[in-house]
Amino acid sequence: MKVDVLLGLQWGDEGKGKIVDVLTPKYDIIARFQGGPNAGHTLEFEGIKHVLHTIPSGIFRDGVMNVIGNGVVIDPVIFKGELEKLSPFNLDIKSRLVISKKAHLILPTHKLLDQASEEAKGKNKIGSTLKGIGPTYMDKTGRNGLRIGDIHSPNFQEKYDQLVEKHKVMLDRFEGFSYDISTLEEPWLQAVSELKELTAIDSEQYLNDAMKAGKKILAEGAQGTMLDIDFGTYPFVTSSNTVTAGTCTGLGIAPTKIGDVIGIFKAYCTRVGSGPFPTELHEEVGERIRKEGSEFGATTGRPRRCGWVDLPQLKYAIMINGVSELSMMKSDVLDNFDTINVCTHYLIDGKRYDYFPYDVNDVEIVPVYEEIKGWNYDTTKLTSYNDAPAELKAYVEYLEQKLEVPITTVSVGPDRTQTLNNKVLA
Ligand code: GDP
Ligand code: IMO
Ligand code: MG
Repeated sequence: MKVDVLLGLQWGDEGKGKIVDVLTPKYDIIARFQGGPNAGHTLEFEGIKHVLHTIPSGIFRDGVMNVIGNGVVIDPVIFKGELEKLSPFNLDIKSRLVISKKAHLILPTHKLLDQASEEAKGKNKIGSTLKGIGPTYMDKTGRNGLRIGDIHSPNFQEKYDQLVEKHKVMLDRFEGFSYDISTLEEPWLQAVSELKELTAIDSEQYLNDAMKAGKKILAEGAQGTMLDIDFGTYPFVTSSNTVTAGTCTGLGIAPTKIGDVIGIFKAYCTRVGSGPFPTELHEEVGERIRKEGSEFGATTGRPRRCGWVDLPQLKYAIMINGVSELSMMKSDVLDNFDTINVCTHYLIDGKRYDYFPYDVNDVEIVPVYEEIKGWNYDTTKLTSYNDAPAELKAYVEYLEQKLEVPITTVSVGPDRTQTLNNKVLA
């Protein structure tokens, strides 16, 4: 058995949580491979909306195991809060969730460092979620980090104190940044002791044994391809590899063991935080998409920047990830648009670009659009793709032809049931 991967092709918030939940009955294991509480994955069913940050989106389905992989970074306080939010649903979390011993811990001082670094950057700030993601991954690559496996060690407190001392020296270098860690430390240490109650495993061994035993695994990405540390719009990115390759390093899955790669994108495009966004709409159309699509961050509540679908950007993401099928999300948000624009290429200094170029930060990118006829139809009640309006089908076929990858799922609302299967691949 190979591991299928589901990941975002834009700047995050494509609807990964919803589709993972929809696909979970086809799998035995759902595994998160990177990111941390900067993610906010929304699931909706039976009239209830759930937002998960660290816990994989397979958690609500019986008989499915959820794995937090070594590539994930965990804030024990946020994690505890997630568990508390799930407690009314009696899910027996202990039997369906395991954590890699190699996953790194986000300390309260990592969050402070994130905040201090963003403040120091001023108008050049990344727009981080301020969850301590960057500083935690820096400590990981700097070989200073603390891992889940460490919390069971008798000298955990000593290791923690040493790292905090290092962070204090760094924090003191930020001029004018004042902080008080005394109020943050106690709840963090308390949350760490509760984390000990969950099962910490050698997740790479667990997953490879499961594969051998014929179990089906879906790897759940966080963020999106354009936020990848190597391939995103650097430096306005997150600090992990959000692309398919991140599955290999974030779970211990060999490249030869990757199966289907499901790339998911919105029928338009959004971004939250700073950085380039070639098709961003600044006027009332952008405002209208934000309103109709409720485009406000699931983690920070910030308004998301909105724009049209960008073919050079999507083609780039499909290439880097080896996407084998696509899910188009939130097409219902465009239900009342007479026309929809699709960016086919860019003009930079008058030169045509059909691909996503290196420098997108310091140049003026002029997106060139093709106009597509809208469907003006309420698609949210559809139960079959066959009944979809001809113009929506034409939009899907147009994108499939340009992107050269089949769109197998079209999502027409936030609920689990508002999901249309376009075609089933062999
Ligand atoms: P994720 O981070 O990729 O899991 O996405 P988020 O949960 O941050 O953001 C997606 C938002 O869109 C959530 O509020 C979802 O409930 C919602 N959503 C997902 N699919 C659809 C859809 O097809 N239509 C509409 N209208 N909303 C959707
Ligand atoms: P999900 O998994 C959208 C963005 C932040 C910021 C940049 C760096 O829900 O799709 P970080 O906190 O990682 O240092 O922030 O990345 N960002 C996201 N945007 N969805 C996310 O996750 C994001 N996670 C981080 O807004 O621009
Ligand atoms: Mg999100």
